[in-house]
Amino acid sequence: GVVFAERPGRPLGEILRRGLERLEYRGYDSAGVAVVDRGLVVRKDAGKVAEVARRYGFDALQGVAGLAHTRWATHGRPDQVNAHPHVDCGGVIAVVHNGIIENYAELKEELAKRGHVFRSETDTEVVAHLVEEYKRQGLDTFSAFRKAVSRIRGAYAIALIDAENPQVIYFARHLSPLIIGVGDGFNIVASDIPTVLDHTKRIIAVRDGEYGYITPTEVYIEADGVPQDAASRVEEIPWSAEMATKGGYPHFMFKEIYEQPESLASTAAGLEPARLEAAANALLAARNVYIVGAGTSYHAGLILAHLLPRLKLTPVPIVASEYAAYEPLFDKDDFAIAVSQSGETIDTIKAVRAMRERGVRVAAVTNVVGSTLSRESDLVIYTRAGPEIGVAATKTFTTQVLTLSALYVSALRLLGYDVAERERELKAAPDLARRVVEKTAGTAKDLARRLRQKPSAYYLGRGAALPVAMEGALKLKEVAYIHAEAYPAGESKHGPIALVEEDFPVVFVFSDPATREKTLSNVAEMKARGAFAIGTVPARSDYAKKLDVAIEVPDAGELTAPIAHVIPLQMLAYFAAVERGYDPDKPRNLAKTVTVE
Ligand code: G6P
Repeated sequence: GVVFAERPGRPLGEILRRGLERLEYRGYDSAGVAVVDRGLVVRKDAGKVAEVARRYGFDALQGVAGLAHTRWATHGRPDQVNAHPHVDCGGVIAVVHNGIIENYAELKEELAKRGHVFRSETDTEVVAHLVEEYKRQGLDTFSAFRKAVSRIRGAYAIALIDAENPQVIYFARHLSPLIIGVGDGFNIVASDIPTVLDHTKRIIAVRDGEYGYITPTEVYIEADGVPQDAASRVEEIPWSAEMATKGGYPHFMFKEIYEQPESLASTAAGLEPARLEAAANALLAARNVYIVGAGTSYHAGLILAHLLPRLKLTPVPIVASEYAAYEPLFDKDDFAIAVSQSGETIDTIKAVRAMRERGVRVAAVTNVVGSTLSRESDLVIYTRAGPEIGVAATKTFTTQVLTLSALYVSALRLLGYDVAERERELKAAPDLARRVVEKTAGTAKDLARRLRQKPSAYYLGRGAALPVAMEGALKLKEVAYIHAEAYPAGESKHGPIALVEEDFPVVFVFSDPATREKTLSNVAEMKARGAFAIGTVPARSDYAKKLDVAIEVPDAGELTAPIAHVIPLQMLAYFAAVERGYDPDKPRNLAKTVTVE
């Protein structure tokens, strides 16, 4: 999270510290501030906001313009050097950033050749040096900033101060959220609205591709070199403080479901082709491919497992806590993919340790930089979903699916297949998720009302739709406390169907194009027994007609269909929890990260 404040008449350090406390839910491994007070002052370190703020006396800092940031590590471990703000060589420019700068390595190399010395391992630091470089070439700070922004690719919300212009804060946005709080004699830029609500309720949402600057009395926004009419875009925010801590959403789970377009975009932007290729090479050379994880992460792994036989590979999906039975198989010719949001699940870590002891090479897919799993694996591919607060995993699941699909596509490319269309499909995933979120929420909510009194439900799917059904059922159990069982649709007639009577809810997942027709015959079997047949179906298809309630999902290719179809199932579980009066963010008996066996 970032907050950048200028509010004369109040101690700047205190404003910054309080803004950081509001933002702490977004990231929590380091904190830092920079102010201009007869020169640039930077104070930062790893640790919680309150701790770092006390240790470095944030509250006493003076000045007009300042920056503050809480970090949630993406590039480089959480420590003092990697904490934001980052500074140029001359020590006059400070920058904070959310998101990922995709081309930072090449920019860093270019700047290093021009004599810039880098202190941190972060992608962010290049921005300070780029602006410094363009200033050296004779540009004023804003022109240098504009030029620097035009050079960076990826997802970003950036703010920058320059001690040589002590009343100005420069900002830029692409994909990562950024807003301006408009005050009377002060202005604030921040990564979310709650951060500024203590000071003002008048907000301008900065749009993708925009950049500009604020001073205590001016807001200037530009896009592609053209000044924008900022004044006409000021909105009044009617939120209560309680709502505000969740960015206006009633629960973190809801917010995180809605955040999926953004988290998919950052994940896609952060995928490093060289790492994917290294993993894909190891995958293709492997005898057995173990796919290991727990809970939702296991389900993401199952989606990859479904694809591997097409590469003539033998997937061995393993629920992490069950690895022991497979131990005799583990061998140096094998490869493993360990999936874990937190990177701290003890079951998964133990499985990985056992594999590596027997020479298996392990690639981790995790959302947490510097996590135990990332340190104990041979190769790490990060999802970049951002911090997930809701106990039930949502955005981290879809970003795992995207990442594992990208790995599959990378392997296809190595085998010489034309993957252009699949790459386009993955690229379009954020936009797909955006449409799904918009189009399916209403139906999911109505349906949740009809499920609220039901004691149990089946979730059925075939092929690649089965793991999606498993994830849907898990969500309903976890947050709504409704018993839900996922089953291969074809297998449901060998037992589960015995329970079906009038109005028994059965959710069919039609995400897998290859198995849709066959799934229809299971719909007929269930309906013949009086089942209440629900389904996620591609929009504008005939499948909807066969069901009692259909959630129509924008049509998607086979790699992204699991993402598109799981979103309404996440929503269904969420709304069912709320209908039944439960707090979906803190389901009873569950922990976000389980570090006991
Ligand atoms: C816990 C959480 C689940 C999660 C699982 C694996 O059980 O409640 O939501 O899927 O752990 O967590 P990981 O961090 O390894 O993905």
